[in-house]
Amino acid sequence: MALESPVEGTSSLWQATCDVPSFAPLTQDVEADVCIVGAGLVGLTAALRLVRAGRRVVVLDSHQPGRGNTGRTTAHLASALDDRFSELARVRGLDAARQAWESHATAIDCIEAIARDEDIDCDFQRLDGYLWLAPDQDPDRLRRELETVHAFGWHTVQAMEEDPLFGRPCLRFPDQAQFHPLKYLAGLCAALQRSGAVIYGDTRVEDIAGGPVVVTTTAHGHRVRSGAAIVATCSPICDRFAVHSKQASYTTYAIGLQLPPGSVPPGLYWDTIDPYHYVRLQPGGDGRGDVLLVGGEDHKTGQADDGERRFAALEAWTRARVPAAQERLYRWSGQVFETLDGLAHIGPDPAGAANVYIATGDSGMGMTHSTIAAMMLCARICDGESEWSQLYDPRRRPLKAGGEFIRENANVAAQYADWLRPGEVASVEEVAPGSGAILRSGLSRVAVYRDETGDLHACSAACTHLLGSVTWNHLEKTWDCPCHGSRFDRLGDVLAGPARAGLRVLDPRTLR
Ligand SMILES: Cc1cc2nc3c(=O)[nH]c(=O)nc-3n(C[C@H](O)[C@H](O)[C@H](O)COP(=O)(O)OP(=O)(O)OC[C@H]3O[C@@H](n4cnc5c(N)ncnc54)[C@H](O)[C@@H]3O)c2cc1C
Ligand code: FES
Repeated sequence: MALESPVEGTSSLWQATCDVPSFAPLTQDVEADVCIVGAGLVGLTAALRLVRAGRRVVVLDSHQPGRGNTGRTTAHLASALDDRFSELARVRGLDAARQAWESHATAIDCIEAIARDEDIDCDFQRLDGYLWLAPDQDPDRLRRELETVHAFGWHTVQAMEEDPLFGRPCLRFPDQAQFHPLKYLAGLCAALQRSGAVIYGDTRVEDIAGGPVVVTTTAHGHRVRSGAAIVATCSPICDRFAVHSKQASYTTYAIGLQLPPGSVPPGLYWDTIDPYHYVRLQPGGDGRGDVLLVGGEDHKTGQADDGERRFAALEAWTRARVPAAQERLYRWSGQVFETLDGLAHIGPDPAGAANVYIATGDSGMGMTHSTIAAMMLCARICDGESEWSQLYDPRRRPLKAGGEFIRENANVAAQYADWLRPGEVASVEEVAPGSGAILRSGLSRVAVYRDETGDLHACSAACTHLLGSVTWNHLEKTWDCPCHGSRFDRLGDVLAGPARAGLRVLDPRTLR
């Protein structure tokens, strides 16, 4: 049975082929050693490591496990950095590049070990990764990357004249991996239930107050008192500004095309274009052959509303290069959070709340970054220190990435000009059934949605994070914020942070 997705219009291969268990909401105050907010890969991996270390753990999720970006990934498990070791070495030094490689490689080992120890059948497979040179791109990009990885000690990376799928010059990275993320997540849930951790679904957290006792408060007013809290909501809901000014939210798209078994060599493939295409094979299992997964076409969240065109572009790109590709079976989108140096933000809340920890800024490598976060935060909570804490320190601001910092924050500032612009429609009559649009009403902007039966629903367009003006996403029927990536469903309920609360509901009868 397909897993219901909180957004409409698209469903991932993983959600269509795996059931992750659902959990009842929290209905009373409880106590724990550690409260984890968010039941994606960060939250559930951290929970497992903490219960194994003897801690009492409570996990709260506003929806259910697997409904966030972990259910919408393409699940490449890479220790080769998407944003390049050569770039990281330029902004943070060669030793940082070496540590990044070691931490991502350790994360893949950790996933493999958990799957083995907990007997999770999640299609885990080791394979090679290929960074291939797109036509018209400077071959120096590959040369610089190869020199960097050899310089810090990864000598088994090789240059090849042709990668096995696209036949282009490439670098081959050994010991990468892939898996089915929701089969893995379902296995984590089962392991947690066996170990006594408690997971609550449909429990949205609205406040996390740090201190010697951290108090986490849900939308229904129930409290979890704990010695520490991990905010594993992909985009942190505890911090208003500090970390969000140093990472940018991008929407990325993925499709799954049917393939005759054995027609494409297994591997992780990604090209040198920005934004890049990422490609891999998911072995069949439902009698429909293998599935070729292709992702890319990224844009800043809320700053484009042309999902259909982007899916078509991905499909055309694939068919031009992989003639064996057959029917399109799946298509979906989700968010990634890009940091200034391509490494996640993992550690104490930079806004200063005591005993509150965050894990965010996946930079397209959220499977390994999630696992690194789980390892680091468990060590930090249990032993007071963690390996790689400086590397991933959420307070860092790499000086040599200053240009990127200014560009991204100028882009966010420019979004507030929306408040001065006219609405997209002059009256509610122009809003078609099943669609949404922004209407100006005096000085304010109103997010108007007309449902399939013709009834109107209205909310303030002001994002409840820092008052960005939300925009309509036709593909998934959501309201998306162009500033830091908060998302709301068509009726204004919050789907993804940093916003913690839904859009303010208005009476549509007051609108002309
Ligand atoms: C199309 C796509 C392709 C990708 N490909 C790759 C890839 O190949 N390799 C890779 O490594 N990474 C990839 N990523 C990134 C990766 O999927 C994510 O970084 C990762 O899944 C994030 O995991 P998470 O646990 O941090 O967040 P999520 O899985 O999003 O979980 C966060 C959870 O927090 C909950 N939550 C949110 N707000 C609240 C609240 N207020 N109260 C309670 N709960 C709340 C949500 O309901 C959700 O369940 C991809 C992402 C996308 C979208
Ligand atoms: S997400 Fe920050 S203002 Fe909307």
